[in-house]
Amino acid sequence: MNEPATHRKAALITGANKGISRAIAEQLAALGMTVLIGASRLDALANNAGITGSGQVSPEDARDQIPSSVDLDMVRTVFETNVFGVIAVTNALLPLLRKAPAPRIVNVSSAAGRHPHTRRWAERIGACDAYIVVTPEYNTAPPAALTNAIDYLYEEWGGKPVGYVGYGIFGAVMAVQKLRAQAGPLRMADIGPQVALSLREDFVDFADFKPQEPHGAEVRGLVDELLAWARALAPLRAASPAAV
Ligand SMILES: Cc1cc2nc3c(=O)[nH]c(=O)nc-3n(C[C@H](O)[C@H](O)[C@H](O)COP(=O)(O)O)c2cc1C
Repeated sequence: MNEPATHRKAALITGANKGISRAIAEQLAALGMTVLIGASRLDALANNAGITGSGQVSPEDARDQIPSSVDLDMVRTVFETNVFGVIAVTNALLPLLRKAPAPRIVNVSSAAGRHPHTRRWAERIGACDAYIVVTPEYNTAPPAALTNAIDYLYEEWGGKPVGYVGYGIFGAVMAVQKLRAQAGPLRMADIGPQVALSLREDFVDFADFKPQEPHGAEVRGLVDELLAWARALAPLRAASPAAV
């Protein structure tokens, strides 16, 4: 970048000696941002420093962190870094951030910081190689609960195919369009075949499911293509997990 250093955007990343923080620092630097640990100007703060105390990252493995027997000093050390540290660093840097035109604070978490229901959701989604999303449509959009559930995860979706079945007055085709737009950033391959069920034609009295004849073949076509994509993408995921 030829921009003078004083004009460049600046980011402060905690815990940047290794791991994700280091990768974030390198990527932001490659984008031309100044990455620092002390600054007179600050546009972004990434709070990523975090410890697990015993070094056991997976909650299932962390037998030494059971509340009834955990070492209190270890808990204090974890809270010092993961909770008070974040607040202290953020508060110390807020005056600088507030001077920036569009300041950002990114608080990074990990699987260890996930709520149990998110972990269960992640395990179920992570175990699958392909997905069929069934959605209704409200005011041309999928329900917020569905997009929210999808947004809760990231790695688990990557490098896998997804197909859609929509139902609504107009077959939920606009809701599916919006879900397709969400699939790209999650690095999913949304396949072409789609099943659009109409409340008027495929349901008796808008309630009892009695699908018209073509839909059976449509579903079979969707599943066949989904499986073909799942087989094609499996080697990609195995070869370059970081890329998906
Ligand atoms: C407020 C409201 C808005 C709706 N908007 C649409 C719509 O934009 N397009 C559509 O095809 N159906 C629309 N519908 C019909 C719903 O998709 C239909 O009621 C569907 O059965 C809802 O699914 P659910 O009962 O599983 O949530 C709407 C229904 C309601 C109540």
